Amino acid sequence: MKRFVLVVALVLFLAPSVYCWSKEGHMMTCKIAQDLLEPDADEAVRNLLPDYVDGDLSALCVWADQIRHWYKYRWTSPLHFIDTPDNACSFVYSRDCHDPKGKNDMCVAGAVSNFTSQLLHYKHGTSDRRYNLTEALLFLSHFMGDVHQPMHVGFTSDEGGNTIQLHWYRHKSNLHHVWDREIILTALKDYYDKDVDAFQKDLEHNYTSGAWSDDVSTWGVCDDLLSCPTRYATESINLACKWGYDGVNDGDTLSEEYFESRFPIVAKRIAQGGVRLAMYLNHIFGEHNRDIISPT
Ligand SMILES: *[C@@H]1O[C@H](CO)[C@@H](O)[C@H](O)[C@H]1NC(C)=O
Ligand SMILES: *[C@@H]1O[C@H](CO)[C@@H](O)[C@H](O)[C@H]1NC(C)=O
Ligand SMILES: *[C@@H]1O[C@H](CO)[C@@H](O)[C@H](O)[C@H]1NC(C)=O
Repeated sequence: MKRFVLVVALVLFLAPSVYCWSKEGHMMTCKIAQDLLEPDADEAVRNLLPDYVDGDLSALCVWADQIRHWYKYRWTSPLHFIDTPDNACSFVYSRDCHDPKGKNDMCVAGAVSNFTSQLLHYKHGTSDRRYNLTEALLFLSHFMGDVHQPMHVGFTSDEGGNTIQLHWYRHKSNLHHVWDREIILTALKDYYDKDVDAFQKDLEHNYTSGAWSDDVSTWGVCDDLLSCPTRYATESINLACKWGYDGVNDGDTLSEEYFESRFPIVAKRIAQGGVRLAMYLNHIFGEHNRDIISPT
């Protein structure tokens, strides 16, 4: 019994690190998004958030990771990622978006659509009582981050890089975790004096007036909120193949070279997730569909 408890405790302790864009990555995605909300969406988001976060969406952007192992929410576990066929480097919704038992739509792309369609009822006050729209908002905000993490759309047999054991500089890690967290933590330490706000400001600078300012208007283009997640997942698996898996083998040590060449990709995906989450929320809660990226 004691051993069982210990194992359960260990699993609970270790599990959250298995599949999640780091806390910092999710928080930055949500902060970027909230900064881009128009008044209608901003008000709806504040109404849906519990009082204790005082209107700060980013405070609950990792909620979906915290509850996924609770019995009540175990069904949400497959919603954090997509397993694609080994080396295919493509995502096909009908082929790949299912849970291990084969239940359709149970993947991160399906989840973004699901919680988007639940939230679309908010404005019309026609919400189905089965759905808790606070939870729908928190799930959408989290999964929009996850679908942008390249290794969350990875190969099946290595569980999105989780079974590829390696060293990150001098400590043990795995390829999935390098993309979830290691690159972000190394950047925070090396470039931002461990200040997440400074990192986020730098991201915001890069899409408003910096390197991505020409590109950013294309990020928010989407003519069907329910099918655009397929495109985001396709971008992720393409990046996973080109930058994540490429040249990496079990037992490798990854350091400066990998960090410096991959950090720009990680940074851009965090920003894209934020810009697109804002676009979703502005469409869902707004009066009309406006181009959301016109920073003045
Ligand atoms: C959509 O959300 C509902 C609960 O809110 C859940 O029962 C259903 O399994 C979800 N489906 C997907 C694909 O996320
Ligand atoms: C909706 O979900 C939140 C978070 O799980 C919970 O705190 C709240 O009580 C729920 N609301 C309803 C009406 O069930
Ligand atoms: C912002 O752009 C500059 C110049 O291209 C780059 O050095 C920096 O790493 C970028 N920062 C982020 C967070 O993307």
